[in-house]
Amino acid sequence: MGQVIVGIDIGTSKVCTLIGQVVRDNHIEILGEGIEFCNGVKKGVIVDIESTANSIRSSVRQAGMAAGLSVASAYVNIPPVNVSIINRKNLISISGRDHEITVRDKERVLYEAVDIEIPEDRQIIDIIPIQYIVDGCDGIVDPVGMVGTNLEVEVDVITGKTTSVQNILKSMERAGLRVDGLVLEPLASGEAVLTADEKEMGVILIDIGGGVTDVSFFKHGRLMFCQSIPVGGDHITNDIAVGLRIPFNEADKLKKQYELALTSLIKNDQEIVVSEISESGKKKVKISEFVEIVEARVHEIFAISHRMLTDANISGNDYAGVVLSGAGICYVDGGSQLAEEVFKIPVRVANCRHIGISKIECATAAGILKYVAANIKEGNAECEVKSIKPVKTVKPTFGERFAARFVNILKKIF
Ligand SMILES: Nc1ncnc2c1ncn2[C@@H]1O[C@H](COP(=O)(O)OP(=O)(O)OP(=O)(O)O)[C@@H](O)[C@H]1O
Ligand SMILES: [Mg+2]
Repeated sequence: MGQVIVGIDIGTSKVCTLIGQVVRDNHIEILGEGIEFCNGVKKGVIVDIESTANSIRSSVRQAGMAAGLSVASAYVNIPPVNVSIINRKNLISISGRDHEITVRDKERVLYEAVDIEIPEDRQIIDIIPIQYIVDGCDGIVDPVGMVGTNLEVEVDVITGKTTSVQNILKSMERAGLRVDGLVLEPLASGEAVLTADEKEMGVILIDIGGGVTDVSFFKHGRLMFCQSIPVGGDHITNDIAVGLRIPFNEADKLKKQYELALTSLIKNDQEIVVSEISESGKKKVKISEFVEIVEARVHEIFAISHRMLTDANISGNDYAGVVLSGAGICYVDGGSQLAEEVFKIPVRVANCRHIGISKIECATAAGILKYVAANIKEGNAECEVKSIKPVKTVKPTFGERFAARFVNILKKIF
């Protein structure tokens, strides 16, 4: 049995847990899935630990029941709110008699590279070695065993707000689970929905969730930029409710029933009967009346995303396409046309069948599994799970290596 990895996506609308097993070539077979409504997260940030913990507990229980496993530890996403990517380089001399690079040399060059001053309210959440350079020869993935006099490393250090990290750890602890590592959400989503070619050539990933839209830019196989906009699918619902003066639930029902973001796609603009704000009366509205509202908000989200990228000096020449993800946009027709209007380049919508999941809501959790399987050293990635019946340990206990401050870094390096 391959190693079992558990990924939990704590989102504004829901908590999604996936239990996967690495079968071959980092291919993951999903053993269990659990989705639970979440009320404790606002705009991607945990605001109610108890409520978030309840959602985590329930979603993990559902996934565990499906897989026949009880889960004790998992990897969790961290949203790109207040996250920074710091690119660092470090060079050391190789002093051994035969100048052969050892594991210790690799550890030392990395540790010195990430030994940086960071503000007190921030902490390192991940480090991503980009490349090693031995005597000027670059693009080396693993320098151990090579011969050289100078070893250089280029690394991306990802830092986040300590309070955000601590609230994730606390919610997991309250749910009775240990954290094996944190995975930055765009890295997870990118792993799930983008191709290696897209990431190499340059691509923008726009993930519209319930409370936030994450905008990320990948190029040369790396995450170069990510930022969150505090607007998501729930704001579309709110706009419909306010614009038509109807209850929020009714607006949500309309949005999910018609799944349209472009008035030009309406085939038959008939009148439909909706509840009034008081819920006591009914009134008629045209389909185009509410689709116009959706269209305006979705267009605005893309316009803000585009402006944010331009402000960060990322222009249309830097990327070859845009990929849309997140349940806030993937279900609605017309989303890609609106994005194409704003970005003026080809846009595609993430396809959950290609990822091997049943719902796009699970894309981030699926990405966590893929990211962990691809980036954490062989045998080190597995989570602690036990077979529910018969009682037998399926995986050896793991998790003691978890260090609250550096989370999964130790696992990646050693
Ligand atoms: N069929 C549908 N049509 C339109 N919108 C939908 C549909 N199903 C879900 N949504 C919307 O998708 C949004 C939730 O998306 P998603 O599950 O990706 O968010 P999340 O990951 O929980 O939140 P976030 O990423 O913002 O923290 C909600 O606004 C919901 O109303
Ligand atoms: Mg999300």
